[in-house]
Amino acid sequence: MKSYIVGNWKMNFAVSESSIYLHKLLQRTRQYRDIEVVVAPSLTALQPLSLQIDRKKMRLAAQNANPHDFGAYTGEVSFTQLRGIVDYCIIGHSERRQLFHQSDKDIRASVAAALRNNITPILCIGETETERTFGETYDVLRDQLLGGLSEVSTEDIAKVIVAYEPVWAISTTTDAHIASPDEIADVMQFLRRTLLDTYDKSSAEQIPLLYGGSVNPSNAGAYLTVPEVNGLLIGGASLIADQFVKIIETAKKVRD
Ligand code: PGA
Repeated sequence: MKSYIVGNWKMNFAVSESSIYLHKLLQRTRQYRDIEVVVAPSLTALQPLSLQIDRKKMRLAAQNANPHDFGAYTGEVSFTQLRGIVDYCIIGHSERRQLFHQSDKDIRASVAAALRNNITPILCIGETETERTFGETYDVLRDQLLGGLSEVSTEDIAKVIVAYEPVWAISTTTDAHIASPDEIADVMQFLRRTLLDTYDKSSAEQIPLLYGGSVNPSNAGAYLTVPEVNGLLIGGASLIADQFVKIIETAKKVRD
């Protein structure tokens, strides 16, 4: 399985800035066959960047899309409309679940819509601080994982990517809230076991599991060596070329 390094730019950079930043990244990023680098710019930048990107080095992801293919959904953009522009789409990010009240039903439909449109879904799951305090982590994760995948056919199950992002560890600056590799090790094993218990072995083994939450060049190596971690989903550090490129280089070193 490849290692995945995914940069979530969130709501940052104007279109021109995105283009300049992508140019910088492409110049500094080397092409590795066993590492898939993906960046997720804002919606307005996706189409121009799709013409600029070197697909041998990097792929594009959307940060969200509407599961209906076409229709009267003012202000929305569908997976069908993103077809050919992006190769991936982040689905169910905790910011969308919390700030925009994205429902489990919508997330489930989005995973299915992505696959229907030849876009690889990156399904994000993660418990909140409160759920963690109340000992609900594993129940929440099982529900979000199997719920999010429940409309996926058996043939398609190996085409999805899952990202575990504990909500309490996202965009933190204090060490107190950074998840330690030990803390995530058990969770990653639980996720793999849950997939193996639910789907056929060869498919379940092929699903990449990413970790996300305050990843930076100093901790990336430790996360990438946790068993069952097949890549990283990076927010803040993906906005700084030096840091993002260092994380890609770290992923290469960990593999070699
Ligand atoms: P962060 O964001 O790396 O800034 O914590 C990760 C994410 O939200 O995907």
